[in-house]
Amino acid sequence: MNAASADLLLHGACSIVSWWEGAPEGADALAIADGRVVGLGLAAELRQRFSCAREHDVQGALLVPGFVDAHTHPVFATGRAEEFDWRAQGVDYLEIARRGGGILSSVRAVRECAEETLQPIVREHLQRMLRHGTTTFEGKSGYGLTTESELKSLRVMHQAAEELGMTLSSTFLGAHMVPAEFKEAPEDYLEILCQEMLPAVQEQGLATSADVFIEEGAFTLEMGRRYLERAKELGFALRIHADQFHALGGVELGVELGASSVDHLEELSDAGLEALALSGKTFAGLLPSMPHFLRMTTDAPARRMLQAGVPYFVATDFNPGSSYTPSLSEAAHFARVRLRMTAEEALHGVTLGAAASLGLEAQKGHLRPGADADVLALDLPDHFHFGYGFGENPVTTVWLGGQAVSL
Ligand code: NIG
Ligand code: FE
Repeated sequence: MNAASADLLLHGACSIVSWWEGAPEGADALAIADGRVVGLGLAAELRQRFSCAREHDVQGALLVPGFVDAHTHPVFATGRAEEFDWRAQGVDYLEIARRGGGILSSVRAVRECAEETLQPIVREHLQRMLRHGTTTFEGKSGYGLTTESELKSLRVMHQAAEELGMTLSSTFLGAHMVPAEFKEAPEDYLEILCQEMLPAVQEQGLATSADVFIEEGAFTLEMGRRYLERAKELGFALRIHADQFHALGGVELGVELGASSVDHLEELSDAGLEALALSGKTFAGLLPSMPHFLRMTTDAPARRMLQAGVPYFVATDFNPGSSYTPSLSEAAHFARVRLRMTAEEALHGVTLGAAASLGLEAQKGHLRPGADADVLALDLPDHFHFGYGFGENPVTTVWLGGQAVSL
């Protein structure tokens, strides 16, 4: 039998997390051809099956699928470090927002930024995510809140992701907050969202999902329903910021409308949990670095959700106001500490679970033969160490489509 050809053999792994049931016991090597995984097993066996143009010894690293961050807000122009001080002095997150800070201060900064100025800033945010192992991400707009600034935000995110070779699943979050100029007439902004912004984003093919922040001081449940129904009619998949500070019914609404995910859930009600468990399709988006960052004492009831079989992912919620980290390893640490997840559950949450919530599970989030060869080498002796330490980036090499990238 002639050996098939492969471009690259990665070998010498301490083990490989592939989410492939057919993986042979003790697999320590991956064969890659044309940007895809073509074989996974013992190096000696793969060398017989494939004639490999190149080999690379990963020297005992743990190989895992490229991380998938299914909830990020990377299109901001500046950080909000001064708010971090105000919060230390006792002013809470929603109070800062009421005073015109918070999300609306990021909105002012993005509006002022020319597209060519914003693009390299966003690219730098994505570069930080990539350095921490994120190869595929869901990225939201939501700091523009005018048609023009939202389209600009989505364009720069697409361009930056493409330049870095990252895979983007893009989400329109024009319903992040009611902008200051509509403070007295929020319904008028909702009409613009539904009649002008959603159609424009859809026509220009700039986002596949739409998101809304259903919360006191942001959008009411009724407004959320109007927006999400319109988005669904236009063909958007739905993702919702729900039950972050108050359980307002956003989870139940998401399940009713067949949303891909409802995210946050720190204040999830029993009714919300029941709706999610019955659905079995709407993912729970778990963002455990957010309550850490905001000094919250509540956490999403992850164990109860997992027990009820709710599909889930773990994400960073990378943004300047409530979770300033681009690192999914860090998010996994918080998932293990605050949400009581095992290493395997956390790893699933940042790879296959996240990919499935985005409809990308055919190619992303696992290393089964046929998957895109987005692979990470982690400097960890086994998978139990994932999310165990914190404050250190375990990622030593990232391959995108089988190509090592310089970090
Ligand atoms: O997911 N809750 C709404 N949006 C973000 C925070 C955005 C910000 O503070 O800039 C979140 O926590
Ligand atoms: Fe968020």
